[in-house]
Amino acid sequence: LISRAFRHQFIIPEFQGFAKDIEEIYWKCKSNTNGKVANYIPQLARMNPNYWGVSICTIDGQRFSIGDVNVPFTLQSCSKPLTYAIALDQLGEDLVHQYVGQEPSGRNFNELILDHNKKPHNPMINAGAILVCALLKTLVKPEMTLAEKFDFTMNYFERLAGGEDLGFNNAVFLSEREAADRNYALGFYMREHKCYPEKTSFRECMDFYFQCCSMETNCDVVSVMGATLANGGICPLTEEKVLNPESVRDVLSLMHSCGMYDYSGQFAFKVGLPAKSGVCGGLLVVIPNVMGICTWSPSLDALGNSCRGVQFCEELVEKFNFHRY
Ligand code: DON
Repeated sequence: LISRAFRHQFIIPEFQGFAKDIEEIYWKCKSNTNGKVANYIPQLARMNPNYWGVSICTIDGQRFSIGDVNVPFTLQSCSKPLTYAIALDQLGEDLVHQYVGQEPSGRNFNELILDHNKKPHNPMINAGAILVCALLKTLVKPEMTLAEKFDFTMNYFERLAGGEDLGFNNAVFLSEREAADRNYALGFYMREHKCYPEKTSFRECMDFYFQCCSMETNCDVVSVMGATLANGGICPLTEEKVLNPESVRDVLSLMHSCGMYDYSGQFAFKVGLPAKSGVCGGLLVVIPNVMGICTWSPSLDALGNSCRGVQFCEELVEKFNFHRY
């Protein structure tokens, strides 16, 4: 970092000026009070809708944070690109995509549907993510117990985040599992259609999915994960190669086309950046070869995306030329 600074070779050379502009967008979005906090479990329903944080980490490790960036929240669906990344890294693209497709579903994230091959449409919706959890549990180091697989996965997430400790919210996990009629329905529907690899333990696979959703972190940490994805799988803080660049390319491709629920097409059109939202109000955004961004605000729009998060992205590409096209 220091030698780059002396050589004036930062990816964002005028970082302070850039941070000032981000701060301006932050305050603009703060006045957006649209949307509602997720209420399908009490732990999320109790979230204060005023929380609003934005964290940025560039591929050369420059960082900027503003607002509620250290308040913990559960990853929820922001874990989907991460579990998918691990599956790709461990099993390769061919094997993973024997089980899950690459098409946007054009429907709600938890809709009871499969594609015409009787596979889940993609790894960013619930069915696909449950299936990815089955692949991780059953095909990656199959000798591991569920407890060991939990540690293995959390360790991967932590390395993506430059070694930051992640937490686990047990109350959210228990509530998720309790309120999971639709997810169980999806799980059984896939079992009926023989979507899982042989020897999948259905109960363990579902528990593993709820556990991944219940891992707890904050904006600062998730922005580093985004920076690792922006940097082709090498964490900018530790310089560790956490993922293969091929895996990262696949993850970003599907975040681009499927990461924003049933708003993915419009988001790709207007913002043109790979992103993944979660019902917690988190939004992981990647500007390839430049930076990772995490925004967090619990109020969601009708499609389930964070209102302030979406506004932030739209304002960001209005101000800077980050749209991929
Ligand atoms: O499966 C669920 O309903 C939640 N635990 C996660 C939902 C979420 O963030 C939406 N995802 N695409």
